[in-house]
Amino acid sequence: MTEALEPVLVVIPTYNERENLEPIVKRLHDALPKAHALVVDDGSPDGTGELADTLAAADERVHVLHRTEKAGLGAAYVAGFRWGIEHDYRVLVEMDADGSHAPEDLPHMLDALSDADLVIGSRYVPGGKVVNWPMSRQLISRGGNLYSRLALGAKVKDITAGFRAYRREVLEKLKLGTVASQGYCFQIDLAWRTIEAGFTVVEVPITFTERAVGQSKMSKAIVREALLRVTKWGLRRRAAQLRSLLNRR
Ligand code: GDD
Ligand code: MN
Repeated sequence: MTEALEPVLVVIPTYNERENLEPIVKRLHDALPKAHALVVDDGSPDGTGELADTLAAADERVHVLHRTEKAGLGAAYVAGFRWGIEHDYRVLVEMDADGSHAPEDLPHMLDALSDADLVIGSRYVPGGKVVNWPMSRQLISRGGNLYSRLALGAKVKDITAGFRAYRREVLEKLKLGTVASQGYCFQIDLAWRTIEAGFTVVEVPITFTERAVGQSKMSKAIVREALLRVTKWGLRRRAAQLRSLLNRR
């Protein structure tokens, strides 16, 4: 048996997830009784933040970070990671509040972290699945992954995945202050930075199930941001390759 990496903080970003929050925190604690949860709420108009406060008051394993406005998934995670690092957690997990990511997969993902710096819960490795996604969303996801792989030369099969476990050392090294990605390209951004910094990334298969309650915050602006940023990172990478080639001659 390898030594368990602890303590674990599961960062759960929320925007209008009132119906989903309590069940997901319960499932988390059934699966991983010792893990702490940090709800990062962007002032949800539906009262998710207040509900999180109630849960936190009743359970010392639950914490809440309130932010004043909806500033995107990326900014919420950066704030959550900073909080977790300050509070000396050794592992920082990303997990959606809507039930798409099964907390029951976490023990397995954390096991894999003994031999990795970042574990990605992946839909696109053998054994991984997506349930109940419309074709349009599957195409965006597959396309985004393919494009990112081509532009960045990254070997990760599910580079946009939002279910992950990081060793704290990775996040300490990544200069979170320079992360500008607001939407879901935050996931590509951090995976790419992790790979570039020389850390080990492992993908374990998970089943992603589309939410049953509430709404996705996916938008055209989020797709646009991802496309622009990935293209820019890809071009920068090609330019760097070219420069090193020229210097060698
Ligand atoms: N605090 C905060 N602020 N939370 C947010 C924001 C925001 O601006 N936007 C979304 N969230 C929260 C949601 O409340 C949910 O808990 C989680 O982030 C994921 O948001 P969804 O809107 O449900 O994402 P999705 O299902 O469309 O996309 C999922 O899959 C993508 C990969 O295909 C997410 O896991 C993405 O991160 C992932 O890239
Ligand atoms: Mn979702």
